[in-house]
Amino acid sequence: MCGIVGVTGREDTVEILLHGLEKLEYRGYDSAGIYVSDEQGADYLIKEKGKIADLRAEIGPEVHGLAGIGHTRWATHGIPNKDNAHPHFSADKRFYLVHNGVIGNFKQLREEYLHDVDFKSETDTEVVVQLIGYLAKKDHLDAKAAFKKAISLLDDSSSYAFVLMDREEPGKIFVAKKKSPLLIGIGEGFNVVCSDAMAMLNVTHDFIELEDGDVVEITASKIKIEDENGKSVERNQFHVDEDASASDKGAYEFYMLKEIDEQPAVMHKLQAEYFDEAGNVQIDEKLLAEMTAADRLYIVAAGTSYHAGLVGKELFEKITRIPTEVHVASEFAYNPPLLAPKPFFIFLTQSGETADSREVLKQVNKWGYPSLTITNVPNSTLSREASHTLLLYAGPEIAVASTKAYTAQIAVEAILTKALAEYQELETAASFDVKSELTKVANAMQTAVDQKHQVEKLAADYLATTRNAFYIGRAIDYDVAIEAALKLKEVSYVQTEGFASGELKHGTIALIEEGTPVIAIITNKATAAHTRSNVQEVIARGANVITIVAGELAQPGDQIVLEDVHPLLTPLVSIVPAQLLAYYTSKNRGYDVDKPRNLAKSVTVE
Ligand code: F6R
Repeated sequence: MCGIVGVTGREDTVEILLHGLEKLEYRGYDSAGIYVSDEQGADYLIKEKGKIADLRAEIGPEVHGLAGIGHTRWATHGIPNKDNAHPHFSADKRFYLVHNGVIGNFKQLREEYLHDVDFKSETDTEVVVQLIGYLAKKDHLDAKAAFKKAISLLDDSSSYAFVLMDREEPGKIFVAKKKSPLLIGIGEGFNVVCSDAMAMLNVTHDFIELEDGDVVEITASKIKIEDENGKSVERNQFHVDEDASASDKGAYEFYMLKEIDEQPAVMHKLQAEYFDEAGNVQIDEKLLAEMTAADRLYIVAAGTSYHAGLVGKELFEKITRIPTEVHVASEFAYNPPLLAPKPFFIFLTQSGETADSREVLKQVNKWGYPSLTITNVPNSTLSREASHTLLLYAGPEIAVASTKAYTAQIAVEAILTKALAEYQELETAASFDVKSELTKVANAMQTAVDQKHQVEKLAADYLATTRNAFYIGRAIDYDVAIEAALKLKEVSYVQTEGFASGELKHGTIALIEEGTPVIAIITNKATAAHTRSNVQEVIARGANVITIVAGELAQPGDQIVLEDVHPLLTPLVSIVPAQLLAYYTSKNRGYDVDKPRNLAKSVTVE
């Protein structure tokens, strides 16, 4: 959510900033801006509403600098417009600031210190940069001292990744971080700052991970880090192997389709990462021991990751017999359920940065319970703060609508249940041969993605103009129905509900009218006949029905027939046509599939 970049020591500062912002655009795309300055003090501030392409179009050849900062915004305080775009600046135009996060007490700060200031925006960020300007002037402070003083006035609820420049110290950038991600990238003769390594992989692969409370002064040749007590510290460095091209779209028009197509390859990658050559599952025994000691698992997540958790419950309960609860992170955080005596927490998160989940993990750490984060991003905050991490190995997921991370999460949950069953010497350990099941899944996924043109036609025939739609299913198919509905609604703005098909007749069937699209998912043997009856009930009331059916349950007239896989792994395959239906519906309607309105990838505010 929001993307931040900064650079010092490069002639091509403007291009590095714009390229970085383009890579981060999926995190926020309401508005964007850059500030650059050269050593002679010439400086430029350019901001624009809309996408990075709109900002780029505003930047003429005269704009240059040796250092600069940039930001792509997902609005929290203040509507998306040019004034509310970052960087924000102090009244005397000395300080320029970009920010990711939320300032809890910005109103109080404004009233207490800045009542005479003529604000240019409605943002909480402007309050901070005005405060820095005010403190620097009043107390004759240099940039760093004013920055630190301003930060000390922010309340505990505030979260921030700040990057600041001072017109009086060209070539320097100042950075501070609390709860929002921020990395420093190390170059030869230059340094960079970014909220995600992906933004800077074209200039460096070596990064420093900052900790909460750190304040950093960066020049082309030096990085000086102070911890929250003002003590000079060194922080961990890490190398990112990923190729800059891993986040390229290639020949695809949108990332979402590329990422849907990548899912069979992700299944193979997970086999390679989690199994040795003899086919034995490789998971840290300490993690397995801690999970074995638990009397209940709590899966905590948001959005699509929460839906992957619902499938995880099926896997953990059926394969390992450990009772499992799944919770929406934002609900759990301030209204936790009564916990079992020996809980173990699993955080599912593509980004590893979701603020709602972080809030729960903070609480779990305070309580002293063990935890595991399953994430796509190594070194992400939720990974660092949990006792254990398992990676998704799905490669960068750029489209805002999550696809391959969902299926990777389910696959990792399945691999983990297998490892646990073996560790506990359960009978299921032998009967659940995950490695070969994942080969079947990858093949079935491939067949499903290869049917994309058939799905494209269904999207055009059934969903082109509808205002609403329903996904229905029972048992594990219901878990998928909820995710399928989220996919369709978030990218195509069709109001879609995922419904337990048996529940329809208890009220919601009243919404079915002539032509309402209803998509039934039928892969669960035990409930297939009942779901078929529910399909008849909605057809009788005028619905246009699409069925997504497992091969062994297929009947003449079914539109999408899937290859059979293990009954607990059917979500990995049945979600694929649903992802494609969402993709094509959005594309047919002329939307920017990768950047649906009002959304952002990686939601770092609560
Ligand atoms: C929907 C989607 C979101 C995320 C949710 C959690 O397609 O992507 O619902 O799943 O914001 O994000 P992570 O998994 O990064 O914690």
